[in-house]
Amino acid sequence: MLIMSAESAIYNSNEIPHLTSLADCVRLNNGVMMPRLGIGTWFDHDRWTGLENDIELAVTSILAGIKAGYRAIDTAYSYGTEPAIGIALREGAFKREEIFITSKYMSLEMGYDDVFSIFDETLSDMNTEYLDLYLIHWAKLYPDQDVFVDVWKAFEKLYKDGRVRAIGVSNFTKEHLERLFNETEIVPAVHQIELNPFFQQKEMRAFCMQHGIQVEAWTILGYGRIFYNETIKTLAKKYKKTETQITVRWALQQGIITMTRAEREDWLIENGNVFDFEISKEDMALLETLNTNQRIGADPNDGPIGGSTEKQQKP
Ligand SMILES: NC(=O)c1ccc[n+]([C@@H]2O[C@H](COP(=O)([O-])OP(=O)(O)OC[C@H]3O[C@@H](n4cnc5c(N)ncnc54)[C@H](OP(=O)(O)O)[C@@H]3O)[C@@H](O)[C@H]2O)c1
Repeated sequence: MLIMSAESAIYNSNEIPHLTSLADCVRLNNGVMMPRLGIGTWFDHDRWTGLENDIELAVTSILAGIKAGYRAIDTAYSYGTEPAIGIALREGAFKREEIFITSKYMSLEMGYDDVFSIFDETLSDMNTEYLDLYLIHWAKLYPDQDVFVDVWKAFEKLYKDGRVRAIGVSNFTKEHLERLFNETEIVPAVHQIELNPFFQQKEMRAFCMQHGIQVEAWTILGYGRIFYNETIKTLAKKYKKTETQITVRWALQQGIITMTRAEREDWLIENGNVFDFEISKEDMALLETLNTNQRIGADPNDGPIGGSTEKQQKP
């Protein structure tokens, strides 16, 4: 098992991390530095049901994000937007080593061997030789599927072969993680989960902290609910910031890695402009009261196909 580094231990305490710019990083449990804030590239479709103009949108968003100073991009095989990173790299939008790239593995044929062919496709689409972080997108696609331990063993091989700088998971339960601890060698570096002011995932965060796993939030804007919440609206007025800035800052102040996705350049700039203010302890406590402990996305126990046992149904 990998040992948690000293910096992770500090980061995982109750102290507010030192937040200065979009280049701020957190040290993962294997020593790799990961930016705390990045941009997402999921545009509401997936590769199996049709992408519309998602690759184009992702390219535009990546170019705007890099210009705004972001240093991390999140994508996934299932989003169909990995080629956007390849296009941006070919256009010389950034130097590969300057940007932290995360992708995720999910496939209708999930299993040990399949990981390597999907991974090769991912690298080729992205025009890169390696990933900074590779995540298992979901522990399972549907309730009675049970392949994630084998998938993780393939991830361990990719890591040992130096093809990914860090490996992690997404949408796992505590029980799924415990199986990895007991049946495999490497502790995940990151757990990417649904997390927002209304679903704060305190138990999972405490569990990950205990095991040296950094938590990363997806859909931090709570499917738009933050724009209608009176507490967040009031705090936005008080700090002369927007609802997204309050929400992103709320996550960062708790040491949660996160990302937002926006088609509009001004929104990307806005969402990254969170380093010139600090939410007070009292207001953080107020935001804590918004937790309803209810997820909106799929339950990791069910998987994205959610309740269906029909393997051929597209995720
Ligand atoms: N691991 C997983 O299972 C998982 C699941 C979901 C997402 N993710 C990752 O997380 C990323 C972010 O999540 P997300 O895309 O679901 O949601 P999000 O970033 O929480 O919210 C995106 C939505 O908010 C809007 N928005 C963004 N900035 C705004 C601003 N400043 N003012 C007003 N509206 C704003 C966007 O508008 P526009 O539509 O106009 O751009 C979009 O509709 C994804 O792109 C993906 O990379 C991972």
